[in-house]
Amino acid sequence: MKASIVYHSVSGNTRKMAQVIAQAMEAVEGVEARAFSLEEVDEAWVKESACVIVGSPTYYASVSGETKLFLEKLGKYGVAGKLGGAFATANYIHGGGELAMQTILDHMLVCGMLVYSAGGSQGNPVIHLGPEAIGGHLEDAEETFTLYGRRMAQKAKELFKK
Ligand SMILES: Cc1cc2nc3c(=O)[nH]c(=O)nc-3n(C[C@H](O)[C@H](O)[C@H](O)COP(=O)(O)O)c2cc1C
Repeated sequence: MKASIVYHSVSGNTRKMAQVIAQAMEAVEGVEARAFSLEEVDEAWVKESACVIVGSPTYYASVSGETKLFLEKLGKYGVAGKLGGAFATANYIHGGGELAMQTILDHMLVCGMLVYSAGGSQGNPVIHLGPEAIGGHLEDAEETFTLYGRRMAQKAKELFKK
């Protein structure tokens, strides 16, 4: 079962966290996960993915313009009915990362995706909209991103593995 993590990253923070998620998803048996920057998305792989996660740096308490442009083309990847998730990086804890994730999830809902994060259903750490990492302290978030990747992969398997 394929999974895609698509991210926008200029200074590398969002890329690093996308890789943490991909690694955690790969560790779940039967899941093949790949992380793609917006500039080099493997369209065929995304189309075949049961789960598509999008990550953005927080710009002005929202997604970056580049991420927004990608989200407006998300429908062309045939994502309706697939599992969707969001993550963000930011400079500040109260810098708007949650709003960036909400924007990603909104676009996924518009495309007919099944959005998921596990929320509080699996105990601590609770991950409500998605995981967020703060630049300069990325390592503090690695465990949560790993857990998030695992939870997303397990849910995708539960829903789509034949
Ligand atoms: C144009 C611009 C706007 C930004 N706006 C915010 C913001 O509103 N809140 C915040 O916490 N960080 C903000 N940041 C910081 C980035 O979200 C943060 O450094 C992010 O981790 C960068 O991701 P990257 O290394 O993947 O490019 C902004 C950065 C830029 C370049």
